[in-house]
Amino acid sequence: MTALMRLDDVSVRFPVGRRRSVSAVDGVSLDVVAGQTLGLIGESGSGKSTLARAMLGLVPTATGSVSWMGEDVAAMSRQRRRAFTGEVQMVFQDPHSALDPRRRVRQSVREPLDVLGRGARDERDDLARRALADVGLPAHLHDRYPHQLSGGQKQRVNIARALVTRPRLLVCDESVAALDVALQAEILNLLGDLKDEYDLTVVFISHDLGVVGHISDRVAVMYLGKLVETAMADVLLDTPRHPYTEALLSARPDVNETGAGERIILRGDVPSPLAPPTGCRFHPRCLHATPACATDLPVLVPVEDGGASACLRVAELYGPGPVDTSVMGGAR
Ligand SMILES: Nc1ncnc2c1ncn2[C@@H]1O[C@H](COP(=O)(O)OP(=O)(O)OP(=O)(O)O)[C@@H](O)[C@H]1O
Ligand SMILES: [Mg+2]
Repeated sequence: MTALMRLDDVSVRFPVGRRRSVSAVDGVSLDVVAGQTLGLIGESGSGKSTLARAMLGLVPTATGSVSWMGEDVAAMSRQRRRAFTGEVQMVFQDPHSALDPRRRVRQSVREPLDVLGRGARDERDDLARRALADVGLPAHLHDRYPHQLSGGQKQRVNIARALVTRPRLLVCDESVAALDVALQAEILNLLGDLKDEYDLTVVFISHDLGVVGHISDRVAVMYLGKLVETAMADVLLDTPRHPYTEALLSARPDVNETGAGERIILRGDVPSPLAPPTGCRFHPRCLHATPACATDLPVLVPVEDGGASACLRVAELYGPGPVDTSVMGGAR
């Protein structure tokens, strides 16, 4: 399996005030495998959008590197960097604010090609129309302004705008979160079709494990800037191997409806990333924390089925085989 993009020990810090900084992403190593959909999940503030921005080279990294097909993004020449912006595109959460209200949608979709200076204007116009057709926006809507479109139509335009450069990697940051459930399903289906048509690799960011689990091949779980678990999607949904993932899973209403087990309530709020807890960052909210969890730093270690977990007690709690439910106190 080839990594199209490889993150190696990536950290992103934002200065806060004069002396302090927020560690929004902390030491993340992750491969984005060609042809796969990688889901990125975690509560608000866990660093998902910051990691996405680091992938696109939009924020400087404090440590580590992002490489694209073997090439360090930070070390790219200006010319390579321009090409890279066409190869890796992003679809944002809010379909309303992502488009320029003064431009007709066709112009907005053409814009990335204008910036890259690709081909003659007529050709760029053609490509924009084709991208709009590919996302299912009928021709009579191509010359409208954003305010004349519905939320779902606007999100289709945003996707067309991301696809018009024919990217190899599409990063979708909460791209369906602002839509109602029926529209979410419609856009998710569309993304699935486009993935095949455009031969895309996708990073799909969401705080909704149901959505992520449904469309991803692999899932990476983030907590307070750190990766806590990675696994194939079906494995993660079936046998999570980190207490945080378990808590996220059991918080899903559909899981509880089945009566499969007690719901694990995530106690307390996410701690401030300005002063993250010592040891395992999840320990103050973890049902299984021991005193060692407050002092020892967990690292991602490989687990069964090709995943990895950053829980100090992983072997004890989840063993080499299936999850031992007696250890979990019947919580699953
Ligand atoms: N430009 C910035 N300056 C300072 N702090 C920032 C900046 N951008 C993000 N942060 C902080 O970094 C942390 C991670 O934020 P990020 O937006 O990456 O989280 P997220 O997982 O995308 O959350 P959400 O689900 O709410 O979108 C948060 O604590 C946030 O306040
Ligand atoms: Mg975000």
